[in-house]
Amino acid sequence: MKILFFKELLSTSKKAKEIANEVEPWTVVVAESQNAGYGKKKRGWFSPSGGLYFSIIIKPEELEELQLLTFAAGIAVAKVINEKFKIKACLKWPNDVLIEERKVCGILTESVIRGKMASVVVGIGIDTNIEKFPPELANTATSLKVELKEEVNNKEILDAVLKELRDMLKKNATAIAQEYRLYENTLGKKIKVVVQGKEIYGKAFDFDQKGDLIVKLKDKQTIKILEGEVTYNF
Ligand code: BTN
Repeated sequence: MKILFFKELLSTSKKAKEIANEVEPWTVVVAESQNAGYGKKKRGWFSPSGGLYFSIIIKPEELEELQLLTFAAGIAVAKVINEKFKIKACLKWPNDVLIEERKVCGILTESVIRGKMASVVVGIGIDTNIEKFPPELANTATSLKVELKEEVNNKEILDAVLKELRDMLKKNATAIAQEYRLYENTLGKKIKVVVQGKEIYGKAFDFDQKGDLIVKLKDKQTIKILEGEVTYNF
């Protein structure tokens, strides 16, 4: 595994996508801060120094089930937070890591296809040593420093997450799906899901084998969500 450290980047995922075809699998791009970090739906990702921002380049032929990679990354982060700091971190489907319903980590999986080469870039942003969030995030985000009231070591967390993720990806899809259920806290909740701009209200009922979310609507019909943004308590 090769780790490339940068003091500052626009975005570790942007950089990782640029170099994906020239580097070995499991090259990791890390930055102390990002000037144009982005998340799902191309939203900006708050990336001041203090946080942990990294993107892992993986070549898909190593993976049994690509869709589960997004779960595996979430499990790896949740597990490290639980085990290292004894804080209860859960996963909101598919892979937002929450501490008491506040987001502490976001993960974005993107594929890069150039010619015949395919790679996957898994971008992970963990709010580690962030003390203060901008007003728009103040009620929904938290950091490890806020929760623990002390500094954490970004390098140790990075190494632990990378190790967990590697171990996780040696497992088969069934084992990953089982482990996911230990950390998720979405099932059983009344939720709103926004799918391509459309709002769907219902109860998070189950996951299928691929990890898609099954939602039970008011009229008891069930629908499958492949990708969408979930909000709790609706
Ligand atoms: C989300 O919207 O929840 C996903 C956020 C992903 C943020 C990380 S930070 C490291 C990497 N570089 C980026 O620009 N984005 C990802």
